[in-house]
Amino acid sequence: MGSRTPDKVWAIFEEDHDHLLRILDRMAVEAPADVVAEEAGFAGLLSRHFRDEEEILLPFLEQHGEDAENVRHHVAEHLAILRLNEQVLEYARAGLADLARQSAARLRLLLVQHVEHENESLYPEAERNVSPGERGLIRNLVQGRRQQEDAGTGA
Ligand SMILES: [Fe+2]
Ligand SMILES: [Fe+2]
Repeated sequence: MGSRTPDKVWAIFEEDHDHLLRILDRMAVEAPADVVAEEAGFAGLLSRHFRDEEEILLPFLEQHGEDAENVRHHVAEHLAILRLNEQVLEYARAGLADLARQSAARLRLLLVQHVEHENESLYPEAERNVSPGERGLIRNLVQGRRQQEDAGTGA
């Protein structure tokens, strides 16, 4: 995934990607009960990541001329990933090990493709178009919101 600069805004999002994919690596081979146990953390992280991209990152990109169709496509992919994740959870809850593992593997593939697209186009565009001041603002907004949530849940 290339080299990383810790002060980049996208580093927060890239860490999420790594974390999510690591959990999916496990889910693709785990027993249903373990998948159900993992899901609590995974679903929370996934929703938070998508929410921060949609509510904080994408509006800045749109302001800088990002094509509205690209944004809609990006959000539609988030929904497809969330739906597939619900399927993983349903299979796991029902104790259907093969189906749970297969859908977790499919989910991983979908997420990898989504992340590749972000790394190839969305984040580089943001890097080019969003000013350093705005990047600092994005970072503060994302970090501030997450810190508040973690404090609220005692995490
Ligand atoms: Fe995304
Ligand atoms: Fe992302």
